[in-house]
Amino acid sequence: MANKSTSSEPTTAVKAPETAEAPPRKIYPIVKYGDPVLEKPAATIKKFDAELEELAEDMFASMYAAQGVGLAAPQIGKSIRLAVVDVSNGKNPEAKIVLVNPEIIHAEGEVREEEGCLSIPGFRGYVIRPQFVTVKAQNLKGEPFEIRGENLLARAFCHEIDHLAGILFLQHLSMLKRDLIKRKIKKMRKEGEW
Ligand code: NI
Repeated sequence: MANKSTSSEPTTAVKAPETAEAPPRKIYPIVKYGDPVLEKPAATIKKFDAELEELAEDMFASMYAAQGVGLAAPQIGKSIRLAVVDVSNGKNPEAKIVLVNPEIIHAEGEVREEEGCLSIPGFRGYVIRPQFVTVKAQNLKGEPFEIRGENLLARAFCHEIDHLAGILFLQHLSMLKRDLIKRKIKKMRKEGEW
């Protein structure tokens, strides 16, 4: 298309408008049950840098892609005490919670509800969790904070903090139910379906 201007002056390149779009995120594959990284305690995070911030954003993207409400770093093969939680399924940006080096400092009540895990796809089981928990953690800048969760949020906090200690929800099931799931997974693995 011809430029309307007849001037011989060099035309300045039109700068593309700044887009508010977020950079593309890395979607990590989720590590499945059987990988030893899921069953060992993760290391405390001491370095709070841009790399950690990037990793947390990539974890949110990976979690949304897998349709989860929580994801712990060991589930993407990184044995560090970092977890992300969003019980709004990405609908509410304010519901995005990053937990660095989290601990449960208070728990109250009991709720028995079905639970699943992105690392154990296709299996669910009833787990008793506290109705309310208070978590103490650090943010991505290393600043300490406390957050209280109720019901599903409390459950997600407990589940993800368990992951950082190498504990899977299977460990909270009855031995009968746990062994049944483990046997099924073993069979699936033998058949190359896991
Ligand atoms: Ni899980």
